[in-house]
Amino acid sequence: MRAAVRELSPSLIREVANAGIGRSDVLPFWFGESDEVTPAFIREAAIASLQAGETFYAHNLGLPELREAVARYMSDWHPAIGVDRIAITAGGVNGLMIAMQALVDPGDEVVVVTPVWPNLTAQPHILSARLRCVPLRPAGSPGGEWSLDLEVLLAAITPQTRLLVINAPNNPTGWTLSRAEQQAVLEHCRKTGTWILADEVYERLYYPDGGEEAGRVAAPSFLDVADAEDRLVVVQSFSKSFLMTGWRLGWLVMPASLTEHVGKLIEFNTSCNSVFTQRAAITALERTDELTPRLVRHLRSGRDRLVSALARLPRLQVSVPRGGMYAFFRLEGYEDSLILAKRLVAEAGLGLAPGAAFGPEARSWLRWCFASRDLDRLDRGVERLDAWLAAQSDNPRGL
Ligand SMILES: Cc1ncc(COP(=O)(O)O)c(C=O)c1O
Repeated sequence: MRAAVRELSPSLIREVANAGIGRSDVLPFWFGESDEVTPAFIREAAIASLQAGETFYAHNLGLPELREAVARYMSDWHPAIGVDRIAITAGGVNGLMIAMQALVDPGDEVVVVTPVWPNLTAQPHILSARLRCVPLRPAGSPGGEWSLDLEVLLAAITPQTRLLVINAPNNPTGWTLSRAEQQAVLEHCRKTGTWILADEVYERLYYPDGGEEAGRVAAPSFLDVADAEDRLVVVQSFSKSFLMTGWRLGWLVMPASLTEHVGKLIEFNTSCNSVFTQRAAITALERTDELTPRLVRHLRSGRDRLVSALARLPRLQVSVPRGGMYAFFRLEGYEDSLILAKRLVAEAGLGLAPGAAFGPEARSWLRWCFASRDLDRLDRGVERLDAWLAAQSDNPRGL
């Protein structure tokens, strides 16, 4: 077996979840998905396709009708994007891997902004790239936010850097990149000849401070500052904004000159996506207004409720996420999030993801997914944490 594969560490989120999955006394908030089923109108489109007998192989790059629907959808939110720049993938995760397979040779340097969803560091590792992580600045003050030290990032990207991987809105911190920062990163990468792989799967799950209505705005995207032929690949997904995690569908936006090559890689990875899921995806895009704005308003309420409840707990520091579906927080005196998350499952019946899963700089943090249909569930989780903390009060350094 290849050393790169042998060395892969299993997911620390799974390690915690395995201790509590299936236990009815545990309230789970560890995974990054809503507990709401995909809307019926999307499921019905898949059923209609199956009943029409659409059970065969399809195009490598995706059904032409779906690629057109994606191009229309993306052009609503961004400068016009042609169909020839779009490929449909088996979820965002497969899109990321395909993009890296297209761009990264063994030994190439890949810069990744961390903390980040572990797949984004595991994938370059699998391809035997050399990883260079650039940490965000942790949220310092209570209610503060994680932030980027732009100078540090730009200094890390040199002509030797093949690829920059950047996820914003960020899982787990909720950090979002500003348009000015995107512009600066893009201009720098143009000079160094570095490709940008922008994971923007949480683009629409964005909660700006201004008066904009939740769900009607999107986080800044590299697509808004880049030209069509810039070395930029954007990864998108049906999982988060369309409640379609189990359908395994996503898409890439790239320079048209790359699309044909990505098509070859899709052939050798998955060949294609099933037609019935793609038909459902067309419906999801065309009827997004019946789903996403409502979902985002609800997520915003969940975020506000969870963050303000957490902020009231003693010795707890929580950062306010601008995007995504996670609250990220730390408890003073508890430095090892893996041990803490396991104790919370066993002793409090509370399932959270350990920050250690996302990078060493998040070792003492915990991630709480607030995508809960029933917001009272979030309150019940906070009550459990509060009660557990109270029980530790004579021994705050209980680890
Ligand atoms: C940052 C980020 N990118 C990509 C994905 C991939 O999602 P999917 O493969 O379900 O499209 C996730 C899922 O949690 C994520 O958090």
